[in-house]
Amino acid sequence: MFRLIYVSTAKFGLAETDLANILEQATTANAQRGMTGVLLFNGLNFLQMLEGEQRDVMEIFNRIVRDSRHTSVVTVLQEPADERVFPDWSMQLKARPSTANPGFGDGTDFSDVTDRPMPEHLSRIFGNFDTLKG
Ligand SMILES: Cc1cc2nc3c(=O)[nH]c(=O)nc-3n(C[C@H](O)[C@H](O)[C@H](O)COP(=O)(O)O)c2cc1C
Repeated sequence: MFRLIYVSTAKFGLAETDLANILEQATTANAQRGMTGVLLFNGLNFLQMLEGEQRDVMEIFNRIVRDSRHTSVVTVLQEPADERVFPDWSMQLKARPSTANPGFGDGTDFSDVTDRPMPEHLSRIFGNFDTLKG
């Protein structure tokens, strides 16, 4: 097992329909590969964690990096892992309203993610992203 976390900046003018399309592509492709993870969006930046076989994670990440719906993709973490943090989510999207887009998102916060039991170094990464205004 392998996990990868990156952050990126959404393209200017990203619409809620773009988010729905990303989620549909992600859940289908990830489920086929037994990949899991979470995608957080704060109205400006994405943070995504991908979990699965290293070969699959890197193949999907190489596609994600080239996707024009976001830019400036920066890898935050890559590591081998014994257990998944989100075994039940082929890809869970959490989109939060932001100062830039107050009406954006599904009205939830990131607590479903930050409340999960997980190793400390991962908690810090999610917790840090949670403090950004977007
Ligand atoms: C922020 C973001 C997250 C994405 N997450 C995934 C993902 O987890 N799995 C996936 O298969 N595609 C994901 N995609 C979509 C891929 O970038 C790509 O469009 C998709 O894999 C289809 O690739 P293809 O057009 O080369 O077949 C994501 C795209 C963006 C912008």
